[in-house]
Amino acid sequence: MSRIHEALKKAEQERAPAQGGQAPAFASSFAPEMPPVIPESIQDAAMPASNPAAAPTATSFSNTLSFDALLARAPQLDWQPDQKAMLFFNGNESGRGTEEFRTLRSRLYHLRENMTLKKVLVTSALPKEGKSFTSANLAQVLVRQHGKRVLLIDADLRAPRLHLMLGTTAAPGLADYLQGTSDEFSIMQRGPMENLFFIPSGRKLSDAAEMVANGKLKVLLQRVEPLFDWIIIDSPPAVPVSDASVLAKACDGVVMVVRSNATPIDMARRAREEFPDQALVGVVLNGTNNETTPYSRYYYDAYVKNLSPESKP
Ligand SMILES: Nc1ncnc2c1ncn2[C@@H]1O[C@H](COP(=O)(O)OP(=O)(O)O)[C@@H](O)[C@H]1O
Ligand SMILES: [Mg+2]
Repeated sequence: MSRIHEALKKAEQERAPAQGGQAPAFASSFAPEMPPVIPESIQDAAMPASNPAAAPTATSFSNTLSFDALLARAPQLDWQPDQKAMLFFNGNESGRGTEEFRTLRSRLYHLRENMTLKKVLVTSALPKEGKSFTSANLAQVLVRQHGKRVLLIDADLRAPRLHLMLGTTAAPGLADYLQGTSDEFSIMQRGPMENLFFIPSGRKLSDAAEMVANGKLKVLLQRVEPLFDWIIIDSPPAVPVSDASVLAKACDGVVMVVRSNATPIDMARRAREEFPDQALVGVVLNGTNNETTPYSRYYYDAYVKNLSPESKP
């Protein structure tokens, strides 16, 4: 087993009885470009059945917001996606990393059969581990399923990147809503991908932590939630700042990104400890080396071997 996986698992086991914490429901590894390591522990199990088609579609609307109103008011912009970071935008369904994101999607649907799982926070211990990359591609792979509506939110108000990956404007966005200067319609934009909506970070704030904690984010999520099948939230790193743990409280589950051969084990542990009461629905091992894996099947297998019986939802 890789050292990081081992450490995360051990930390979970230590925490579970004392704090009622949950072990991650699955672990995943992928990486189109980056070197090393498929953990040995994940190389020989079978992919469980999952049934994305059975999952419900967002059809119920709140009293105040409707999807038609959203379509009418959310501006359609000419996104210029960064082709390196946005794996699905160029219509390439079989590029490196795409299969792993489909597997991640399947696992989330599988988990959703047994728990409420719509608002997913993507976080990691430190900067540059692949949170934004994972959020953006997860949102894309989810919206590729017919009729599914996805909202992607850049909640990293300190170092926002999603607007750069999508090739669009950063404002107005979340910060403007949290400050009370914009409503939910005016901060949401859409691009060429049908049913994919995006809330960028918005205007730069000097008091990001206070803004994220001011309670308005929860209100925003409550209002827009009925309009979407999935809401994917990109966050700042969990160890240096408190925003991610505040954000997690407004979400149904947390996906933790761990960078292969980069994330120090103690940092990965500390990051997990930032979410004592939140469901850790998965660990994505980013930066593994496809070269060592002859089939994408290996990646499918990756999820299962790490799914210990007690960690099933
Ligand atoms: N698996 C990957 N394959 C290719 N590029 C990646 C991968 N993971 C991250 N990157 C790139 O590395 C950089 C840092 O990743 P990013 O997602 O912005 O990190 P974070 O959000 O954790 O700070 C970005 O340019 C991103 O596109
Ligand atoms: Mg980021």
